[in-house]
Amino acid sequence: MDRSDSGAVGVVTARTADVGATYRAALPVAGRRVAVFGSGGPALRHASALLNAGAVVTVVGTSVTPALADLAARDLIGWCDRDFRAADLDEIWLAVAATGNELVDRAIADACSNRRLWCLRDNGPSRRAGGAGRVVLVGGGPGDPGLLTVAGSEALRSADVIVTDRLAPLSVLADLPGHVEIIDVGKIPFGRAAAQEDINRILIERASQGRIVVRFKGGDSFLFGRGGEELLACEAAGIPVSVIPGVSSALAVPAAAGIPVTHRGLTQGVTVVSGHVPPDHRSSTVDYRALAAAGTTLVFLMAVTNLDAITTALIGHGMAPDTPAACIADGTLRTQRVVRSDLRGIAAEVADHGMKPPAITVVGAVSRLSEQQLASTYSDGGSVVGHRGLDV
Ligand SMILES: C[S@@+](CC[C@H](N)C(=O)[O-])C[C@H]1O[C@@H](n2cnc3c(N)ncnc32)[C@H](O)[C@@H]1O
Repeated sequence: MDRSDSGAVGVVTARTADVGATYRAALPVAGRRVAVFGSGGPALRHASALLNAGAVVTVVGTSVTPALADLAARDLIGWCDRDFRAADLDEIWLAVAATGNELVDRAIADACSNRRLWCLRDNGPSRRAGGAGRVVLVGGGPGDPGLLTVAGSEALRSADVIVTDRLAPLSVLADLPGHVEIIDVGKIPFGRAAAQEDINRILIERASQGRIVVRFKGGDSFLFGRGGEELLACEAAGIPVSVIPGVSSALAVPAAAGIPVTHRGLTQGVTVVSGHVPPDHRSSTVDYRALAAAGTTLVFLMAVTNLDAITTALIGHGMAPDTPAACIADGTLRTQRVVRSDLRGIAAEVADHGMKPPAITVVGAVSRLSEQQLASTYSDGGSVVGHRGLDV
């Protein structure tokens, strides 16, 4: 392959695992069509890594996991809800056979071989001998794999089982050893959701088998992440459990858009709020009168659907309608988008621009600070520097 015509923005490391001797190669997949055959954990980790490397990914498989369905719903990947057809190999540069069915994977690999098309095979996990089982709750950061902590990364590398959410940096899963079992329990807002009790049961069952289980989440496990519930469930079951904190989207996503949540002379605090229910909902426990008067930056998570009701309540309780506001979707990812307005207009702007979750809305004077004003406060060299986002 010629790197020059693709821009070679991203690479993926390939192993020809089924042909005896292996050869590792970096493939310039950026901008090129690739197909992943399968619908479970192995398909998820390859699709995520290829997506992160800039490939145009189509997943072919029935009953896909929640995280794959979520990537398709956000138009980040294509999804054909059916089994493999030979015509799927037309016009792609690379195939991944990860159906979990040895015969089907072999048929895909043979069809690729006939066309001189590279095919990676992933046979999924094989059990390692058991020792003492335990659970590690790993906060994965807001999405950019560069924001996964060193400790989190090491925990993933030593895991036998990874129980993952959809907002964790999924592309890092592709580099893990083949024996690792990946279980996707991603919760999609208003969509398919694994019950928390089922997730707790999976963690406890797998750890009871003597396996090292990593619970892998977006951001930090203890900020709207149900990490506390999982910690208590493991402790109640007598399973050793530890916590590796993560970089929370509540702070990192505004930062990636050039918004410091506090700024000397502008605000002395920040309040992080879940907007998953509107202010007048019977299960809302947030005091919007106090929020409107707090004088801190307000950071709303899970608030896209209820943004109009939230901003109306804040204005109704006396907050100035011209308070600056910004909404950031897909923060730290290459698809990051930012809209800026004021409290009065932000909900309409978000709707007009078709902003979808995951998104964070920041309300307060800091939302008006531009990247140019802040340029001197950032250092170059971090992977996030390139992800400041498209102001739309
Ligand atoms: C269930 S909460 C989990 C928060 C997570 N534990 C954390 O500390 O970041 C999910 C919400 O976090 C926010 N979020 C997470 N990742 C994001 C991202 N990359 N860009 C924008 N918002 C994000 C969105 O508001 C999303 O609806």
